[in-house]
Amino acid sequence: MRRTSLLPIILVALGCSSMAMTPSAQSGAMPKDGELAFPSEYKSFPVFLSGVQKPDAVRDLYVNPLGAQNQPGQAFANGSILVMAIYNAKKNAEGALEKGADGNVVKGDLAKVFVMQKGAGWGKGAPENLKNGDWVYSAFKANGERLEVDYTTCRGCHLPLGESKDFVHRYDEYFEKRTHAAH
Ligand code: HEC
Repeated sequence: MRRTSLLPIILVALGCSSMAMTPSAQSGAMPKDGELAFPSEYKSFPVFLSGVQKPDAVRDLYVNPLGAQNQPGQAFANGSILVMAIYNAKKNAEGALEKGADGNVVKGDLAKVFVMQKGAGWGKGAPENLKNGDWVYSAFKANGERLEVDYTTCRGCHLPLGESKDFVHRYDEYFEKRTHAAH
């Protein structure tokens, strides 16, 4: 009798001590904005969209294999990673933007890498008016070092997409192109 009544107490004690011993383990860690690990292997990820044109930049977007399993209308699963590699547009000697035969700007050096990644409960620490579900944001230099940025700008600009697009700007375009490619 005595033994059974102690069991819950023992289980609680075990649970507490194992959490205390692994405070930085991946499973228990909840990174905040600016604290994500650099996904150094991102170029081997499935393409999300490539060659997105900006007036003075070209952007290649990737999604990790887990995120690529997402179906239209769904939110991305915890563990999903979206990566946006931002390339400067090439300039000629006079400093004018080069244009390709298609009239588009031409991809030059990699300037920076923007990442959003999701995990269970990761959004809890975000400011109340800037909650983007459980996405957390990080910005890196081309070499993977951290960039000092104001992460409220990331949140503020992704927020209007809302839960229906899971705060992902190119949500619809991704699924349209993916469906098209599969046929
Ligand atoms: C001024 C608005 C704005 C801000 C600020 C902004 N983004 Fe975005 N983000 C976009 C747009 C628009 C896209 C879609 C690609 C494009 O058009 O360049 C995008 C795309 C992305 C994507 C690819 C997934 C998607 O949403 O399509 C990631 C990852 C990303 N942004 C991360 C960040 C991070 C990290 C920051 C802050 C360092 C940030 N963004 C700040 C507007 C913004």
